[in-house]
Amino acid sequence: MDLFPVFFGTKDVSVVVVGGGENARRKVRLLAKTHAHIHVCADQLAPAFADEFQGRIETAPFEHLSELLNDAKFVIVALEEDDRLEAVLADVRAARLPVNVVDRPELCDFTVPSILDRGSVVGAIATGGAAPVLARKIRAQLEALMPKRLGDLADFARSFRGAVKSRFADEADRKSFWEKVFSGPIADKVLAGETDDARMGMLRELEETSNKQGVVHIVGAGPGDPELLTLKALRVLQDADIVFYDKLVGDGVMDLVRRDAERISVGKSKGNHSVPQPQIHEYLIEAARAGKRVVRLKGGDPFIFGRGGEELLALREAGIDAYVVPGISSALGCAASTGVPLTHRNLAQSVTFVTGHAKNGEAPDLDWPSLARANQTVVVYMGVGTAPDIQKHLIEAGRSALTPVLVVENGTRDNEVRATGRLEHLSELIETRGIRGPALLIIGEVASLSEDAIAEAQTLLEHAA
Ligand SMILES: C[S@@+](CC[C@H](N)C(=O)[O-])C[C@H]1O[C@@H](n2cnc3c(N)ncnc32)[C@H](O)[C@@H]1O
Repeated sequence: MDLFPVFFGTKDVSVVVVGGGENARRKVRLLAKTHAHIHVCADQLAPAFADEFQGRIETAPFEHLSELLNDAKFVIVALEEDDRLEAVLADVRAARLPVNVVDRPELCDFTVPSILDRGSVVGAIATGGAAPVLARKIRAQLEALMPKRLGDLADFARSFRGAVKSRFADEADRKSFWEKVFSGPIADKVLAGETDDARMGMLRELEETSNKQGVVHIVGAGPGDPELLTLKALRVLQDADIVFYDKLVGDGVMDLVRRDAERISVGKSKGNHSVPQPQIHEYLIEAARAGKRVVRLKGGDPFIFGRGGEELLALREAGIDAYVVPGISSALGCAASTGVPLTHRNLAQSVTFVTGHAKNGEAPDLDWPSLARANQTVVVYMGVGTAPDIQKHLIEAGRSALTPVLVVENGTRDNEVRATGRLEHLSELIETRGIRGPALLIIGEVASLSEDAIAEAQTLLEHAA
């Protein structure tokens, strides 16, 4: 982070803007929304400048700059010409005040960001002068997402701060109470302008709330690319008190977890069940009984080879409220990122997801004759280690040795690897490309549609021509 954002309080604070032209006027327009006393230091103001801010600014000529600086908290230099710049900066530096010089980032102690203004709620977007237009665009996007009455919600919360503090001695309980308020009907009412109803609701909530049991969300994190998370998953991650996550969950997704949430790796990876499944159930139950909002974050979708079903059952048996938030399973993520449709009108009328993992290290006992039928796609999860067996069983059961295959390792991530070939060379392909996993095997005619297979075929045709 090149910049460190801070917000200056403006009550009983003086700010000096140096300059009387359009640049200065734009900055004064922003400052006029605050409580600051604004001193404009200029020999002359642009037409209508003084009228626009009548009663809101005080003006003084350049010769009074040093005096004005005595009481100021920060300075904005917004001169139209550079002729006075050096002298003005010398005075500001002598007064040891932080300064912003409009359009001269190299002379600034601070920059004025793109400001998102919702009354008591203020957001700031900055790019360090690299791309101010981008900052404005981001601000506009955020503005569209932020309810107009967000500032009212902050003011509403402020009016109840004391009451909530005396109701909940423990800080964690207070936090959890506020999070519930901000994501429930009370906040909705404030945002809809129904403040009286919201107040009644808040008083009731304070009265009734005892230390209730928490809740567990079993959340699919998708195959790696954080943008593949659902909106619900994002919301739940940002509300969590504690997150138990698997090894397959990418760093990009973990970056979206609420900053203060506790994170516990239950690190399951191939052949390495570092925390046994019953122990994971215990952790989830214990955390929920302690009143926490718990997230169990799993790679892909929790209900596809994810043991999400076992966890849900254990939680329900323990009487814990538990919900499932689906995720993009790796088959769907890998298909999209490689351009391979898993079904296709002419090439595959069905798709079957199978596991390649079996306890004895060999391929599991699958219905090979049915999987060997043409015109269908077989997606094998956890099949890297057992690829030689899978290849052998499928060919022996009648699947053509020439069936196209696509192996995708770390699908949708920055380090995604793709390898295309024929079923007869599947295990060789994995070996020569050094694929270790997590990887999927996509077996079927549709694999010939992968961007890589098409590029390879084109190269072959060019060589033959
Ligand atoms: C225990 S299963 C979990 C599957 C997960 N629940 C899902 O829906 O994708 C783990 C297997 O999923 C596959 N997998 C998970 N993430 C992957 C990724 N980013 N790229 C390729 N395969 C992945 C691999 O086959 C891996 O061995």
